[in-house]
Amino acid sequence: MIPYAKIAKYSDLLWGNILGEQISFLVSVLGPILEDPDITVLDAGCGTGRIIRSLSKMFPCHFQGFDASEEMLDIARQLSDDRIEYFTATLQNFNVNKKVDVILCLYSTFNYLTRDEDIVDTLNRFSSALKGVRGIVIIDTCNFLHNLVEGCGKEASKTFVDNELRVVDHIQYYIDTTKNIWTHDETLEIYENEKLVDTIRERHYLRYLTYAEFRLLLNLSDLRNFKCAVENGYDVSSNIQDRLIYIIRN
Ligand SMILES: C[S@@+](CC[C@H](N)C(=O)[O-])C[C@H]1O[C@@H](n2cnc3c(N)ncnc32)[C@H](O)[C@@H]1O
Repeated sequence: MIPYAKIAKYSDLLWGNILGEQISFLVSVLGPILEDPDITVLDAGCGTGRIIRSLSKMFPCHFQGFDASEEMLDIARQLSDDRIEYFTATLQNFNVNKKVDVILCLYSTFNYLTRDEDIVDTLNRFSSALKGVRGIVIIDTCNFLHNLVEGCGKEASKTFVDNELRVVDHIQYYIDTTKNIWTHDETLEIYENEKLVDTIRERHYLRYLTYAEFRLLLNLSDLRNFKCAVENGYDVSSNIQDRLIYIIRN
């Protein structure tokens, strides 16, 4: 089963606390571009569409999103209006009917590409999907080295509350340094009116992708002549360095 099948309906609650920072960051990078009603933004691995749903309330341009998980897309479609178009695809096989101006691949979606050849192939797909030379790609990966500070093999728990719903999220991770794989085990305990109604367990295999490796693979791809800047958090004024966010443009 693709991870997220069962987590899908809780993901907006789990990731809601960072949404404001993400949108401010994207607006600071893309703002004036998104004011143009003729441009199209593609969200690659859009999940429930929470990013493009927010942006579509603020900007007049076109939005598309795709994801590998039908369950995530079901929620995206339920919560979106007709201005956003969704389709099922993977990073490894997606195609667009019409070229796009901006590609987003956010919140660790890119880390699901575990093999070098898939990473280069996806960057090539991003390059082919971009319209002309003024396109922008924003890829937000997890800064695993920073997260190691939290302690490998230790369990971290967080609680999220929405009215009668309480979700306790336990995360434990392991790394395989020979394959650069980060195994992320997540257990969600779902309480409704303080009664435990479900326990969901999912295991995710993510690529442990450092900045140096990303730059090497980018140089092997068709985006090699684009400029690439990196930020290590959404809130550039804070010391939290938990993301590696690549802004790739001509
Ligand atoms: C952490 S979620 C982030 C979703 C969304 N980008 C966001 O910021 O809310 C990761 C998403 O990547 C999707 N995903 C994982 N591997 C994928 C692949 N190979 N192709 C497309 N989507 C993938 C999952 O289904 C999930 O929706």
